[in-house]
Amino acid sequence: MFLSKCSAEMITFAAQSLKDGHLVAFPTETVYGLGADATNESAVAKIYKAKGRPADHPLIVHIASMEAINDWTSDIPEYAIKLARDFWPGPMTLVLKRSSLAKDFITGNQETVGLRVPAQPIALALLKEFEKIGGNGIAAPSANRFGAVSPTTANAVMEELLPYLDINNDRILDGGPCTVGVESTIIDCTSDAPKLLRLGAITKEMIKESTGLEVIDAVSNSEIRVSGSLESHYAPNAKVLLDQAPNPGQGFIALKEVQTPQGAIRLAEPTSIEEYARNLYAALREADARNLTEVCVTQPTGEGLAAAIRDRLKRAAN
Ligand code: TXA
Ligand code: MG
Repeated sequence: MFLSKCSAEMITFAAQSLKDGHLVAFPTETVYGLGADATNESAVAKIYKAKGRPADHPLIVHIASMEAINDWTSDIPEYAIKLARDFWPGPMTLVLKRSSLAKDFITGNQETVGLRVPAQPIALALLKEFEKIGGNGIAAPSANRFGAVSPTTANAVMEELLPYLDINNDRILDGGPCTVGVESTIIDCTSDAPKLLRLGAITKEMIKESTGLEVIDAVSNSEIRVSGSLESHYAPNAKVLLDQAPNPGQGFIALKEVQTPQGAIRLAEPTSIEEYARNLYAALREADARNLTEVCVTQPTGEGLAAAIRDRLKRAAN
């Protein structure tokens, strides 16, 4: 079956599909990824084609455990090991100097590679199974078309990518909704101090506490190609308006404590910042499903995950 619930059998089958050069979309705790064998150039090319993504944007390689870090990298600073120990498996990607295993088609011709051990049982089972049959890491960007909202359910992947996948050979593993809901924190570990490239659930404060180092904030002025750091990204078809009171007929997303103005269409009313992150992308998709032309979003305040949410909203509104 093209879209499958995840039995152990299905995971074994999906791992073999990857080994055979096909695509497998799978859940992670952040968002759904569109996976391919990270050492197979033609399989990785299928990711770019399905996403409509420019070829010079690097991909994150997902690995089964910290041990695999040495296969993909050379020269790992002490603080990166500390981060990996503290936050893997988890919503954190480390950018490190690459080894010869990380080819140009993964790194976008850069000398670095992004690595992550996800904390999602199906993702981990798939990675372990893939390793067992001789695989070496799964390249997986978010399973959306380039510039669009990342999917947080298997159905959202279907809606987004069905026309661009090979339904006879590619597959989508259904692991239910993602628990975090925004993409991983990306940390560049190629200099003396950790450099934050993308905000996520692993916060600046957590990185500082783990490493004992000052964290360089490079989120908005990164010269490294992080596609999620382009000005316009994570965008639904509906126009996103920030911190404006909605008019009748406009979509509305805000914390539950904020009342819905008369006539506005409430798309999400999360009770916490965590729930806000978890539901945001589904709510933006819902705006499109209902053919709304505008959606007003009251941004959460505060640091940490709230800052990651505002970062995504700013780009969605651009
Ligand atoms: O949470 C996530 O990270 C999800 C799940 C599926 O793991 N993946 C994800 O991948 O968000 P993607 O490709 O949509 O976003 C990854 C970002 C891209 O903007 C890419 O440019 C950046 O990571 N990236 C990957 N390798 C990099 C590298 N070597 N240096 C700098 N940025 C890198
Ligand atoms: Mg993405």
